[in-house]
Amino acid sequence: MTLSNVEDLEALDRAHVFHPSTHMRGHAHGEMPMRIVEGGTGVYIVDREGKRYLDAFAGLYCVNIGYGRREIADAVYRQMQELAYYHAYVGHSSEPLIRLSDRITSLAPEGMSRVYYGLSGSDANETQIKLVWYYNNILGRPQKKKIISRERGYHGSGVMTGSLTGLPVFHNAFDLPREPIRHTMCPHYWKHAIDGESEREFSRRCADGLELMINDEGPDTVAAFIGEPAMGTGGIIPPPEGYWEEIQRVLAKYDILLIADEVITGFGRMGSWFGSQHYGIRPDLMTIAKGLTSAYLPLSGVIVSDKVWQVLEQGSDQLGPIGHGWTYSAHPTCAAAALANLDILQGEDVPGNVRAVAPYLVAGLREAVGDHPMVGEVRGAGMMAAVEFVEDRATKRPFDPAKKVGPAVAAACVERGLIARGMPHGDILGFAPPLILSKDEADQVVAITKQAVEAVAKTLA
Ligand SMILES: Cc1ncc(COP(=O)(O)O)c(C=O)c1O
Repeated sequence: MTLSNVEDLEALDRAHVFHPSTHMRGHAHGEMPMRIVEGGTGVYIVDREGKRYLDAFAGLYCVNIGYGRREIADAVYRQMQELAYYHAYVGHSSEPLIRLSDRITSLAPEGMSRVYYGLSGSDANETQIKLVWYYNNILGRPQKKKIISRERGYHGSGVMTGSLTGLPVFHNAFDLPREPIRHTMCPHYWKHAIDGESEREFSRRCADGLELMINDEGPDTVAAFIGEPAMGTGGIIPPPEGYWEEIQRVLAKYDILLIADEVITGFGRMGSWFGSQHYGIRPDLMTIAKGLTSAYLPLSGVIVSDKVWQVLEQGSDQLGPIGHGWTYSAHPTCAAAALANLDILQGEDVPGNVRAVAPYLVAGLREAVGDHPMVGEVRGAGMMAAVEFVEDRATKRPFDPAKKVGPAVAAACVERGLIARGMPHGDILGFAPPLILSKDEADQVVAITKQAVEAVAKTLA
């Protein structure tokens, strides 16, 4: 059957596609708008009806180099003709895999020496959990297994990674979170600081809270802490001043591993190669995905430090080969896509563009909507920004969730040709554009956001 018109395709989609993070009844019964995306160039995507949108969320914070780069398609084509696939079990390798691992470890913070590959951020974090448990078993500490994450952290939606995620919408009716995961306080200064508390004092309070939790649980039961250098899906929340210094002080005191989840912050989004370098984080393990290939093909990874690697080697002495791996771990075609992506990110100094344009975007948003009566906070972290809406600025009282203010502003942006994300928790409009965004394009983002906020404010008034 040939289908060309949009209505036919939409009807088929509603009948047969099970979409992630979608209202299932609303979609299936045509009560919600849908969009069939057909093409993309630079920071723009085009839908099947020919409407163009500035994608100020880079897909899902992942198309770092923007859409439509031929170099990646060419590299993938070449690799597929040479060797589309071979596995990496029992020491098998391929040239793109070797070159990519060398490139990644040379960009990563000092002491990170090995890369294990998966296909998604979620599966990479599942690997992290297993490595942390394996590590402590090999060290003869079988009780040291708990992992502390944060409220509003996002680390995936598998059984264990969904448990690490600290957002109720990813737990509801899934019997999550599972043992042995704990959640400590979200470091959102604007929302959680008490009157007169400085950012530094607030960071100290977050670290004190963590230390209290560790002592309540028993330090010999806590294996690792996982955090995004700057929080993404929980609402785009930069760490308050001194936060990572304070947290690392506590972790070092109790011999707790630090996993930096760099799925969003890796590969240039903070204006550095990794968020860890930007915030002075010295991780034991790092999670990467998204920007590693700019999402042209799926690829993720766990970067392992020497310290952890030494213990994994001891594990092989005791138990033989590590019992972990997937058919598609270290897929050579995905590795070729990642190498071509890194050529662009490095060759065109894309992180340099972030350092130039990201502060301009955030300043533009502050200027355009920062004083609007329904805006509580405009914040930014590298090439990510958020506008948080409140009913009352003075008390920071949120809107009644039933009013769906965040989604309404996101929809008003879409009507005007801008994709920004109504974040899943709270009335927050999120931005995470491709890292190649120009100042002109940032101006368009700001202008449309202002119009959208004003339009929604009118309907509320
Ligand atoms: C910080 C972080 N970790 C992990 C994940 C999960 O990645 P994936 O959706 O590829 O499984 C995400 C996805 O947005 C993320 O933002």
